[in-house]
Amino acid sequence: MEEKGFTVWFTGLSGSGKTTVSKLVEEEIRRRGRKVEVLDGDVVRTNLSKGLGFSKEDRDINIRRIGFVCHLLSRNGVVAVAAAISPYREIRGENRKLVGDFVEVFCKCPLEVLLERDVKGLYKKALAGEIKNFTGVSDPYEEPTAPEVVCNTDVETPEESAAKVVAKLEELGYLAAPGTEGVYSEEEEEKVRKRLEALGYM
Ligand code: ADX
Repeated sequence: MEEKGFTVWFTGLSGSGKTTVSKLVEEEIRRRGRKVEVLDGDVVRTNLSKGLGFSKEDRDINIRRIGFVCHLLSRNGVVAVAAAISPYREIRGENRKLVGDFVEVFCKCPLEVLLERDVKGLYKKALAGEIKNFTGVSDPYEEPTAPEVVCNTDVETPEESAAKVVAKLEELGYLAAPGTEGVYSEEEEEKVRKRLEALGYM
């Protein structure tokens, strides 16, 4: 039986840990024997969304494109993992509706911490006015109201955050908990049962 595809949608400010946590989640999903594909905002913007900027219109196009690819993958049994700021609640909601099997993960980190860390040096530039419309500084970010998972990435390690996501996927029945699956496939079980019956053991 083909396993059901689904989408794990990471949202959060730049530097909040979306890429880091999504990579760990990707690795774990692959370890469980599932096909998985990550769509990361920074990467998508170099190909699928090349040429798009950061106006609301362009961000919406970017997020709808990512959502569309997640929809195509998910309906074919693949696990799609999206990691983009996706600042607008309405467009995330559209994607949830389109995909159906949609698990939203909010990477939550206070702006003060992001400003202090500033791994890419972009917040400094945004504060200096060198980058316009920077999310969280001079552009909106609408927090999810009912995400399936909240990762408090200022206090959790990336491993802890990833474990929370994986646990939720198990709870929702998207991933089998390790050790719950039989050693034999259903087909093999049936063969074994028939053989035991024929031998008079059952
Ligand atoms: S989204 O808003 O369309 O979801 P996306 O996740 O693809 O954004 O890209 C965000 C990345 O682009 C940031 O991590 C950052 O490296 C870079 N970036 C450049 N300009 C901006 C900006 N004005 N606002 C946010 N991120 C920006």
